[in-house]
Amino acid sequence: MKKELENFLEKIKERSQTYIGYPAATDFDYKELYPFLEFSLNNVGDPYLFSNDMQSKEFEREVLNFFAEYFNAPKNNFWGYVTNGGSEGNLYALYLARELYPNGMVYYSEATHYSIQKNIHLLNMESIVIRSQPSGEMDYDDLAETLQLNRHRSVIILANIGTTMTEAKDHVPTIQSILKKYAIKSSYIHSDAALSGSYLPLLGYHDFDFAHGADSVAISGHKFFGSPITTGVVMVKKSYKERIGRSINYIGSLDTTITGSRSGINALIMWYTIHKHGLEGMQRRAMECIENAAHLKVQLNALGIPAWTNTNSFTVVFPRATEEVCKKWQLASDNDISHVICMPGVTRKMLDEFVLDMKKSIQ
Ligand SMILES: Cc1ncc(COP(=O)(O)O)c(C=O)c1O
Repeated sequence: MKKELENFLEKIKERSQTYIGYPAATDFDYKELYPFLEFSLNNVGDPYLFSNDMQSKEFEREVLNFFAEYFNAPKNNFWGYVTNGGSEGNLYALYLARELYPNGMVYYSEATHYSIQKNIHLLNMESIVIRSQPSGEMDYDDLAETLQLNRHRSVIILANIGTTMTEAKDHVPTIQSILKKYAIKSSYIHSDAALSGSYLPLLGYHDFDFAHGADSVAISGHKFFGSPITTGVVMVKKSYKERIGRSINYIGSLDTTITGSRSGINALIMWYTIHKHGLEGMQRRAMECIENAAHLKVQLNALGIPAWTNTNSFTVVFPRATEEVCKKWQLASDNDISHVICMPGVTRKMLDEFVLDMKKSIQ
């Protein structure tokens, strides 16, 4: 048993040195939280209601207060919880939207993460895929045309705040102005902010939050913030959520979340990372990633590789790399493009070694 674990540890240590294709920060240190791993902390049910003592809901509520401010949620009218990841946050938001608008049609762009299609299928909702621009951002003309054809239906829009492949941001105020133009009476906008939404407020970009038209926002915690356990946060308007909660005697709480049992460690992790870095520290981390992405783009361009980035993005996109490079650097590819995501923990040294490999591969 010992040998197997040692071997596995060796392998992931080595592979972490070339982990630049997926959006997971690797610069975290949660040693101070290790003593809590000796307990089974379960934040079962609603974070605002008492369940039992083996939970960390007071920390979870502080995390939610932080994100309410971060995403400009309406004061005294927000609710949310610490999830197992971005996909669960998206599922919760779509579930809420469906309960509010049972005949709603979901619109999402073709660059949307696969979890959305799965969630729509699970919830048995109807949906229409909208074209994307080459950058990955939603094609608003296509959205407007499609909406016009379905004006009798309530509208549920899934805005990507950082598409998976190119980190394009759908512009929520533009979507809102289209809804207004066509006098759509009932609508719901969810911002799937898995990666980019976690750091955009630090760069002064807010065009996806509650103050700019979103009814809910979901992020992944293991992406920009970083976590050894997958996690996330979903935040919605409390007045919406109150229409759908169910009371369960057995847990002494409201069954308002997607999963029943929820990790109490995840809430501690999110609380710890927010407090440890503070807004300034997080901002520094985000700026470093933006600078690393700019550096990589320049290096690849110097080799004649037409690499590009969307604005305010950690993701550098370029024509699909060779099989060998993709394998070594664990690059995600889709059709004819590959990308590197300059997450916290990806160093200049790693990027420069990667550029050397790219150089060799095109020679
Ligand atoms: C745009 C987008 N949404 C949702 C997700 C899913 O997040 P998670 O892996 O935390 O469930 C991802 C993951 O990469 C993503 O890129």
